[in-house]
Amino acid sequence: MSETTLLIHDLEAAVSPAGRGPLRGGALGDLEVHSPASIAVSGGRIAAVGPPGEVLRDHPPGPGCETLDGRGKVALPGLVDCHTHAAFLGDRADEFELRCRGAGYEEIHAAGGGILSTVRATRAGSEEELLTATRRHLNWLLRHGTTTAEVKSGYGLDKETELEMLRVIRAAGEAHPVDVYPTFLGAHAVPAEFSSAAEYVEFVVTEVLPEAARLAEAADVFVERGAFGVPEARRYLEACAGYGLALRLHADQFSERGAVALAVELGARSADHLENTGEEGVRILGRSATAAVLLPACALFLGLPDPPARALVEEGAVVALATDFNPGSSFCSSLPVVMNLACTRLGLSPAEALCACTANAAHVLGLDGEVGRLAPGYRADVLVLDAPDWRYLAYHLGGDHLAAVVKSGSLLPA
Ligand code: NIG
Ligand code: FE
Repeated sequence: MSETTLLIHDLEAAVSPAGRGPLRGGALGDLEVHSPASIAVSGGRIAAVGPPGEVLRDHPPGPGCETLDGRGKVALPGLVDCHTHAAFLGDRADEFELRCRGAGYEEIHAAGGGILSTVRATRAGSEEELLTATRRHLNWLLRHGTTTAEVKSGYGLDKETELEMLRVIRAAGEAHPVDVYPTFLGAHAVPAEFSSAAEYVEFVVTEVLPEAARLAEAADVFVERGAFGVPEARRYLEACAGYGLALRLHADQFSERGAVALAVELGARSADHLENTGEEGVRILGRSATAAVLLPACALFLGLPDPPARALVEEGAVVALATDFNPGSSFCSSLPVVMNLACTRLGLSPAEALCACTANAAHVLGLDGEVGRLAPGYRADVLVLDAPDWRYLAYHLGGDHLAAVVKSGSLLPA
């Protein structure tokens, strides 16, 4: 038996998605609840979760074992944010104000602002500045309980800056408690230097992808009017798959253009956004292995329709939630806020929302069995809430109940 290095003892409850792998349909929201509970950690992994007497008997704290008093508190798995654009320089506060006065996101994008203004700011800064900014953004995510995050490139859109972004995303994760998974969003927008989306995609695939593929784990494309159509997305994604990258798509954010069907056809890990997905898209996601990643903070931020969460669950889709944290369409770094929106606007229960940004988000990142649950063998990423009920995480909009965060078995400084 391996040595217990941390014992979180006498919690009111330890709450985790049940089972293993993704939870779909009626199983979304299935929880395993131990009450009261203790959690034994050994060298970065969870050794046991269960009744305090049993855990203490089977995993006694040896000399040097840290202990955390869980009385009056509840434990949950560290949250997994499976869709962020957390590496960028500058901000879009001016654009936010313009939108508050009635300007549209797509209108600003078409006029060369929006994503392209963050591209200009990111290209203009140094690698060091981007690293500092990215770490700062990861701190914001961590403060709200995110212990694992995907971070996309996509604000370089030239060879030098896209590769710089991917190096920075990797480096930021290595020196930070949040574990980071980099995604190559080489097809985020068409930069001004290119006259068409097709021409730009050829450049990305031939000039950038061979090196980007060594730094990224997944690839993503923004399928939308004013960005990339299905033919360009197919060319980009097939080339990326050829380099072994997992596939993701920004799909149906403003208009339905066939991105969901393409995602399913190519066996993509996920189709994300889906604010404008109709019945057919819901039906095909319900029957596929491609997850539906919903981003309700983005829908709120831009005044978009809410994605059809309930229908997706009922059709059997794997539904995950994420922040979409970025400076333009979702300047929101809090998964608990996203959980609240999922409950109040998308019709998910708190338990469904919890599963969607833990076990199911882990699945989207290829991390089944690794993060997203409080269960033996999983990475010891644990949130301890100072709250009488775990549902405070979703229920208290803008609340702050994190009493402690354990990352890979280490208790982080408060
Ligand atoms: O997921 N829609 C495309 N990409 C991002 C927005 C990025 C930005 O506005 O900077 C999104 O909403
Ligand atoms: Fe996004």
